[in-house]
Amino acid sequence: VSEQVNPDEFIITRKRKLYRFALFSNSPFCFEADEWTKIKVDTLEIGAGTGLFSVALANQMPEQQFVAFDVKADRLQTGARKAEEENLTNIRFLRGRGDLLADFFAPLSLEDIWITFPDPFPKERSAKHRLTHPRFLNIYRSLLKEDGKLYFKTDARDLFEWSLEQFVDQGWAITELSFDLHDSSLSDIYKTKTTYETRFINEGLPIYFVSCTPPKIAK
Ligand SMILES: C[S@@+](CC[C@H](N)C(=O)[O-])C[C@H]1O[C@@H](n2cnc3c(N)ncnc32)[C@H](O)[C@@H]1O
Repeated sequence: VSEQVNPDEFIITRKRKLYRFALFSNSPFCFEADEWTKIKVDTLEIGAGTGLFSVALANQMPEQQFVAFDVKADRLQTGARKAEEENLTNIRFLRGRGDLLADFFAPLSLEDIWITFPDPFPKERSAKHRLTHPRFLNIYRSLLKEDGKLYFKTDARDLFEWSLEQFVDQGWAITELSFDLHDSSLSDIYKTKTTYETRFINEGLPIYFVSCTPPKIAK
């Protein structure tokens, strides 16, 4: 019985989604791909979901410019509302596809890229959709400054181990690593929780974390 769908709830959910899309398009913090103009950005979070992690970072580092990036507008507007409530001026929310990231940012311009709790895509044939797949690593490399950093956190052990292999195979240098971020002595900034992270921590799961620097670009 609990699996039966209540059509009334379904309609309310759809309406709520449309309402969230409207909030996205009305927010001065939110941009569709065709509304975006290249601006100076220091930190990008890809697959940001609600973007609340970037909002928290933007609060702590007012001198840096942040972009929370995701394909889903209805999620991003949650962070945009929070940023507006908190009068932040150093964060934007951009809706777009990860494989098109290079259209939005100048080459070798970003200080930091965060990949937070990306969908694990456990089936091998879907590996190309993982945000730590070499095709994405190449894009991140083209956008990060030479001394820039890539940060990755996840609850998915298989994805984490697979991703570590990709980083090393693609010539990224691992600088920090933890198999239990919140029980480590790593920076408290890294322990700022994303929406999914809060859920996983409440379930008692460890959070896997790595930071790395990009391979040198051949001159
Ligand atoms: C599991 S959620 C995690 C959200 C958020 N990072 C968090 O930790 O709460 C993964 C997010 O990645 C986004 N995503 C997946 N593939 C993407 C892609 N190729 N480009 C942009 N966003 C993507 C999804 O829309 C989703 O919001």
